[in-house]
Amino acid sequence: MKRDFIDLWNLDPEEAWYVVRRTKDTKEGREELNPVLEGKNLALLFTKPSTRTRVSFEVAIDQLGGNSLFLQEGQLQLSRGEDVKDTARTLSRYINGVIVRNHSHTWLEEFAKWASVPVINALTDKSHPCQLLSDVFTLYERFGDGVKEIKIAYVGDGNNVCNTWLVAGGLFGLNLFVATPEGYGPDSYYLQAGLDLCNFTGGNIYLTVNPVEAVRDADVVYTDVWLSMGDDRDEEKLNALKPYQVNEELLSHAKSEVLVMHCLPAKKGEEITEEVFEKYADFIFTQAENRLHAQKVLLEFLFERS
Ligand code: CP
Ligand code: NVA
Repeated sequence: MKRDFIDLWNLDPEEAWYVVRRTKDTKEGREELNPVLEGKNLALLFTKPSTRTRVSFEVAIDQLGGNSLFLQEGQLQLSRGEDVKDTARTLSRYINGVIVRNHSHTWLEEFAKWASVPVINALTDKSHPCQLLSDVFTLYERFGDGVKEIKIAYVGDGNNVCNTWLVAGGLFGLNLFVATPEGYGPDSYYLQAGLDLCNFTGGNIYLTVNPVEAVRDADVVYTDVWLSMGDDRDEEKLNALKPYQVNEELLSHAKSEVLVMHCLPAKKGEEITEEVFEKYADFIFTQAENRLHAQKVLLEFLFERS
């Protein structure tokens, strides 16, 4: 049976830890990746812009021996109203796997249902599982198994990345505090999924509207843009998010050796100050680099089992 990766829970906790640990072993050269994509063609079907996800996947596919095709919706018959299910069935006859970045999670689920080849979520309005798989690796790389003991704070908009943090907290058994403003919280479906996973993994997820409470004594503070791709400019929302800006004052409540993470792209002056961004830039760009390392192992994992 094909293995899709639409949400983080498509991996069970043991599989998710396997991917994270193998990413460390392969990145550090102790283990070799299997060229599982030799002779295979993978499509990237993107309806939104991307720098990191697109490039890291294209390079990952190449390094695993495969070939990638970048497809934009506007150039496919999809843009003229061809059914999602017909597009999925057609591509499955030519292509060995599809990596999709789309505005609608429901669209992606429909696409995956009709595709007979593995489908990977490269970001939707609801979730960004490749980002979080890689981010947990970045923390594992820094903290080892201690990653389960540290306090991680997500501060900002309750968006796709925030939703996926909740699932990651549950799946990996982390200690996660999430601070979002009233009315801009994460999706309750993802919260429940994270909480359910915590029952198995011993993770803790705590939601608050108070950014200081989330950041107090935190080892890691994570943020993302206040307006995601596809969001209209919304002054009311931007005002509500102002107290959640990751700046020196907010970070003064965290541990002195706190690390700051950002999935990028960043809107400096909104969710993070330029000063804080530059102070933690080395870690933030290691986080970006790790997308490549984690996705290679994810591709290997999915294609060895599909
Ligand atoms: N973090 C991330 O997914 O970046 P891109 O939008 O550049 O792919
Ligand atoms: N929340 C952001 C993440 C970008 C990687 C967006 O959807 O635009």
